[in-house]
Amino acid sequence: MQHFLQFKDLDRSTLEYLFSRSRIIKERFKRYERYMPLQDRTLVMIFEKQSTRTRLSFEAGMHQLGGAAIYLNTRDTQLGRGEPVEDAAQVISRMCDLVMIRTYEQEIIKRFAAHSRVPVINGLTNEYHPCQILADIFTLIEHRGSIEGKTVAWIGDSNNVCNTWLQAAEILNFQVRVSTPPGYEVEPERAGLHSTGHFEAFGDPLEAVRGADLVTTDVWTSMGFEAENEARKRAFEHWSVDAEMMAAAGPQAMFMHCLPAHRGEEVSAEVIDGPQSVVWDEAENRLHAQKALMEFLLLGRVQE
Ligand code: CP
Ligand code: NVA
Repeated sequence: MQHFLQFKDLDRSTLEYLFSRSRIIKERFKRYERYMPLQDRTLVMIFEKQSTRTRLSFEAGMHQLGGAAIYLNTRDTQLGRGEPVEDAAQVISRMCDLVMIRTYEQEIIKRFAAHSRVPVINGLTNEYHPCQILADIFTLIEHRGSIEGKTVAWIGDSNNVCNTWLQAAEILNFQVRVSTPPGYEVEPERAGLHSTGHFEAFGDPLEAVRGADLVTTDVWTSMGFEAENEARKRAFEHWSVDAEMMAAAGPQAMFMHCLPAHRGEEVSAEVIDGPQSVVWDEAENRLHAQKALMEFLLLGRVQE
């Protein structure tokens, strides 16, 4: 059974199939064509952290494909009262066809998947956010034709989204230049990397962005790390993507952010609301990319 717990769970050929499928599914949606291959299929979505985009894109996506989506959270289920993840997995997966989970440690989703009868999708953990990078790369392909050989500059925290970019670079053959403050560097093992061949670390963010095809960043404090907020604000002060940084990157550079964003912290309003930013396409593409993913996990490769 195929799960999507981290980006490297899918090989290059499958990822390329998903990007082309995302385009077909998106075009159909834009033409208001009904496409309901997942009738009578049910997705269960389990959220242990908050969400706007992930919930909406999975729920709307499943409805648009003809299926149903059920939202569960920790507070209102027995998961919040200590029911073992393994037991929850056995029960939940007997009543649905697909599960998406947003939780804390990657270990939790691994344990769930090990006891699940149906495919499990990672909707964000402390370590990874694979659905985000599916959408981000699809967005880059839409704007620039392909990802191979491109350069992505990641500025700020080496978090779940950064780790996933790094995994994607190994599979799809592009470069990621990462600039973090001291003490917040990439941990290759935690990122799940085989080598350091596709990434380079920079102390100076202005050097990391030079000539990049894409400049991207994320919040300084991810969900679950709120206690570190004040220390992080001080440490990340010079890792804000502003007009000077985009000028150092060059006019070819696009800007992405998985959202939600904090204007005036990791990105200036001028950049996120400016002409190089593609953040709204990026957010919309969560819908199309995840519809392709759900279709693939439930039906395999579709021949049309
Ligand atoms: N980018 C993203 O995953 O957004 P949400 O936290 O709103 O789901
Ligand atoms: N790195 C952020 C992403 C939110 C979508 C977090 O984990 O909170």
